[in-house]
Amino acid sequence: MSSTTATTSTSENLQPSTKLVQPYVQTSLTEVTDILPIKPPCRVFFKNELEQPSGSFKLRGIGHLVHKSIENAIANHPTKKIHVFASSGGNAGLAAAYLAYFYKVKCTVVLPVISKPVVQEKLRSYGAEIILFGNTINEADKHLKNLMNSIDLDSIYPVYCHPFNNPLIWDGHSSLVDEVCSQLGPEELGSLKGMVCSVGGGGLYNGIYQGMKSNKVSGDILLIETKQAPTLSESIEAGDVITLKSVNSMATSLACSYTTKQTLQYYHDNSVVQSKLELIDDIDALRACVAFSKCCKKTVEPACGAALSVAYNKIDLLYKNFGHLQPSDIVVVVACGGSCATDQDLATFEQIIRKSDTKL
Ligand SMILES: Cc1ncc(COP(=O)(O)O)c(C=O)c1O
Repeated sequence: MSSTTATTSTSENLQPSTKLVQPYVQTSLTEVTDILPIKPPCRVFFKNELEQPSGSFKLRGIGHLVHKSIENAIANHPTKKIHVFASSGGNAGLAAAYLAYFYKVKCTVVLPVISKPVVQEKLRSYGAEIILFGNTINEADKHLKNLMNSIDLDSIYPVYCHPFNNPLIWDGHSSLVDEVCSQLGPEELGSLKGMVCSVGGGGLYNGIYQGMKSNKVSGDILLIETKQAPTLSESIEAGDVITLKSVNSMATSLACSYTTKQTLQYYHDNSVVQSKLELIDDIDALRACVAFSKCCKKTVEPACGAALSVAYNKIDLLYKNFGHLQPSDIVVVVACGGSCATDQDLATFEQIIRKSDTKL
């Protein structure tokens, strides 16, 4: 993805001459090979997207969308007030609210009434207006769209942030791969066998796929989905994008009822990048969250744990999906982050794991 050079910060009165700073930060790429509880067959690195100021990789893609929208507003509608709208009760909503705070524009987030208090608090801390409506994201989103239909378009420039389904979002996520390439350098990049990421609606995967293609990185992408939210697996089986009637996974941020069409197309296009998909159980995602907190002293939510499980408790998936790995080969696991779990939740995950172990 091409990036804009940061020359100035933003202000309440965005001028046509204003050059916008990119909102996301370069995250660290750390080798964890020697600190994992089970010795992996190759070198394993974590791309630490939990370091993004909003708590997850979502800041890259939604940041790019908001960035481009503001540039357009400044150039073509300089008198209008920019207003960001989102309906995600999770990390996409947090990214949208953080972006509005960062660019000093207004933000409204409509959330289902059951949204986690920790997310509501964070949204408020970014100064977003919060409206609790409906029981599902779809109901909240409908309400948001009604709200957007009633705004005065002569004075307001609305920026609607879908959580994953927008090519600008994928373009923004692809910056993650640009960074991995420059952080590894040409020699180590030659040893890269692939990347691992979790999949919900498919935005993150689309970005990684595009980034690997544009950087001419040969390697595989291993996608991890939970059995409790098998959205992509069912679409692959059906040969078309399907919509699940209900999705009930503890990896709440992966519980999307559909994926993007592009996700399915990329999955089947093996011309440069080979994509593979594995289903794990929710409990495996929880196990990885607990292991990550012990190993790296950071709290992440199960959506991130899903990908991390490949490094901790589902290491067999590395052997299965990356062929004959040599000790010098490299696999990068995207630690995508997420703010929807607290330390209290981690303690609950440990109890759930203990109960499940005693049942065995
Ligand atoms: C922490 C985290 N990981 C992974 C995902 C999945 O991303 P996508 O919906 O782009 O597939 C999400 C989506 O909300 C998320 O918040």
